Amino acid sequence: MTDTSVLFRPFTLKGVELANRIVMAPMTRMKSPGLVPGEDVAAYYRRRAEGGTGLIITEGVNLADVSSAFYPDVPTLEGDAPVEGWKRVVKGVHEAGGKIFPQLWHVGAVRRQDRSPNPEVPSRSPSGLFKPGKQQGKPMSDAEVADTIASYVSAARNTVEAGFDGLEVHGAHGYLIDQFFWGGTNERDDRFGGSMVDRTRFAQEVVRAIRAEVGEAFPIVLRFSQWKQQDYEAQLATNPAELEAFLNPLAAAGVDCFHCSTRRYWEPEFEGSDLNLAGWAKKITGLPSISVGSVSLTTDYITTVTTGEGSATGSIDHLIERLEREEFDLIAIGRALLSNPEWGNIMREGRFDDLVPYDAKVQETLY
Ligand SMILES: Cc1cc2nc3c(=O)[nH]c(=O)nc-3n(C[C@H](O)[C@H](O)[C@H](O)COP(=O)(O)O)c2cc1C
Repeated sequence: MTDTSVLFRPFTLKGVELANRIVMAPMTRMKSPGLVPGEDVAAYYRRRAEGGTGLIITEGVNLADVSSAFYPDVPTLEGDAPVEGWKRVVKGVHEAGGKIFPQLWHVGAVRRQDRSPNPEVPSRSPSGLFKPGKQQGKPMSDAEVADTIASYVSAARNTVEAGFDGLEVHGAHGYLIDQFFWGGTNERDDRFGGSMVDRTRFAQEVVRAIRAEVGEAFPIVLRFSQWKQQDYEAQLATNPAELEAFLNPLAAAGVDCFHCSTRRYWEPEFEGSDLNLAGWAKKITGLPSISVGSVSLTTDYITTVTTGEGSATGSIDHLIERLEREEFDLIAIGRALLSNPEWGNIMREGRFDDLVPYDAKVQETLY
């Protein structure tokens, strides 16, 4: 039988002591009417912490700039009632022995202004492009860039106020920050556009501004991905040298940990090495990294989204091997934790037959 003990080695992330290596991946829920996470949201996260998850990264949370939101009923971190709601969520997770970070999320040009909350407010993005050739808004002005960064800072301040243990900036999947990263959506000729390093500047400024607000000790995770919802085959970096050029300025800006979003964690990122994206991020920067993608499942996230079908349960043997050789430090679990709130406890007790397959209808969401 698979020995899962490596999953239960404690880990300290920038001073935050995690009971194990299991992270709940951020997953949008749209169950916070009035933008306030209620008792049911608190119960949902608490249940995952009780089920053996060491670190919870919440669903994407919107910002003071209301154009950060696309979907309705996504919670915010702005205003008294939402912050009070998050205090309840944090308390429940802490009582269950878990740690929790919110994911700060701005959708940029993924937003369809006419179909989103606050339709009178224009969308913000680097060049108004949803993807190459598809205009969905206008380029952000300097004032809008500054205001957007201020929105992240305000959310970071409220993150601390609500008692969270750290925060994650959503820089993945083709949303605002990734629209700056990706040449396909960033045609700016100011300091935020141009070379790969120039295209990281917006994220650098967001991270530096958050750091100035939260202080040195507070962990900042950056989630990034090669793939975009606009183009599953897109790549920010096609080889380790390009990945280094991309990651190092972000690490220098104050990122403490990279959360490397892939669809299948067992796939090597570049030819000539078995390392996955999180393995490369850790090797290049020396910082801790989080891997993710189809853990204990056979079918990847995008396939279940596009087909509406579920996924059978799968082996975690390769995960154990990679954790044992310390390729990355933490592993995020997405869909398997929707179906199995007790995923961690099941793994610790070796009750693999108790794992329930992923049913795509388990959580009704547009994401
Ligand atoms: C219902 C659902 C909602 C998601 N929402 C988010 C989100 O808000 N932010 C994010 O970065 N990723 C989001 N994702 C992607 C997951 O965090 C994760 O990367 C993906 O599901 C792959 O992990 P898995 O194969 O273990 O499910 C979502 C995934 C699902 C299934």
